[in-house]
Amino acid sequence: MASKLYTWLDSRLKLKSVERTLLDEPIPGGASWIYVFGSATLFLFLLQAVTGMFLAIYYAPTPDHAYDSIQFIETQIMFGAFVRGLHHWGASGMVVVIGLHMLQVFLYGAYKSPRELMWMVGVVLFLIVLSFAFTGYLLPWDQNAYWATQVGINMVGTVPVVGDLLAPVLRGGEMLGALTLSRFFAVHVLFLPALLATLVMIHLFILRRVGPAGPWRGGYERRKSGETASQGREPGSPGFVERRVRRSETFYPRQVFMDAVVMLGIFAVVAVLALTVHFPLADKANPSDAVLAVAGPEPGAPSVRTPGCVGHRRSISSGRVRAAGDFAPGSLCRASRGPGRGEGSGGVCAVRLHRLSSHSCRRRRCGA
Ligand code: HEM
Repeated sequence: MASKLYTWLDSRLKLKSVERTLLDEPIPGGASWIYVFGSATLFLFLLQAVTGMFLAIYYAPTPDHAYDSIQFIETQIMFGAFVRGLHHWGASGMVVVIGLHMLQVFLYGAYKSPRELMWMVGVVLFLIVLSFAFTGYLLPWDQNAYWATQVGINMVGTVPVVGDLLAPVLRGGEMLGALTLSRFFAVHVLFLPALLATLVMIHLFILRRVGPAGPWRGGYERRKSGETASQGREPGSPGFVERRVRRSETFYPRQVFMDAVVMLGIFAVVAVLALTVHFPLADKANPSDAVLAVAGPEPGAPSVRTPGCVGHRRSISSGRVRAAGDFAPGSLCRASRGPGRGEGSGGVCAVRLHRLSSHSCRRRRCGA
């Protein structure tokens, strides 16, 4: 039945030539378990794409609903927690596997001429994978997500020259809020997948043009100059035959088999982690939580609410206001000094600080 369908399709779409192109690619030096990491990264990307699509059905990218929608997925949707777990552990797996892929390419010298372009495209792919992790982390909108993203954007803000420009672009303004969440969501589910898919195609297109590098000793280049790995062996000896066979090996069947085994193994590990290791949400993001906004109160210092400045909190230690609340989250300014500030309704509220540049703060009046 399947072969009849294939013949029918082949007579119309000429599938045989596509099949040959995809599967008959020669692998210099033969198939190897060490070449599986590129395909494994590709597999994890596909897993992320599929699980992400299902999560997106229920996820709502607004500060009011993001946290609740994740809880809804976790508790009310059939397999919701499992799919979220796959996405969570798949993301970590992708960072690990892409790291191993880079390591293999580096150790085998596969980045050298004529494969420099593959390496360069690969570096961009790596940055995209990290951007996936960064933008995805904010989406649950819990305290961890909110404040970790705050720190991340602050770090971007400290980059020389462009930092002050980039941080507000990432944040969508001065404050981390609804605009930040919606742009992180759009980047996470639209921009980055499109970019990654395009670059992976370019990556693989270049691979097809230049061919795989092969093993770091022996292999294609040496064979082209007339040297063979079987030199010094008697024709007919096991080593002689084995090596000659492996040298002209195509991608199918052995490399396909190895890739498939590793993909299955990775899926099994990610699935077991998703089923057994729970990663609970923290509390819902609270942008006015001053304790997390700066260094936090000194040990033992009382934490009080400042009258007149809603949501303001300060910790007082030896007459010094050390850290206080309702300043623009993201501020690197650590302290406003002097007792008396931050008090009184409608007065100057020294605790509302805005980051103007890496080093300067200004005071703001805050509402009564
Ligand atoms: C989404 C990310 C990526 C995917 C899906 C991907 C996929 C692949 C695949 C399927 C291969 C062929 C099989 C193999 O050699 O493993 C490959 C080869 C290669 N990749 Fe990647 N890759 C990614 C990221 C990277 C990164 C971050 C780098 C380096 C910075 C890189 C550099 C290379 C190079 C130089 C080769 C050629 C290896 C050789 O000829 O032996 N790739 N990639």
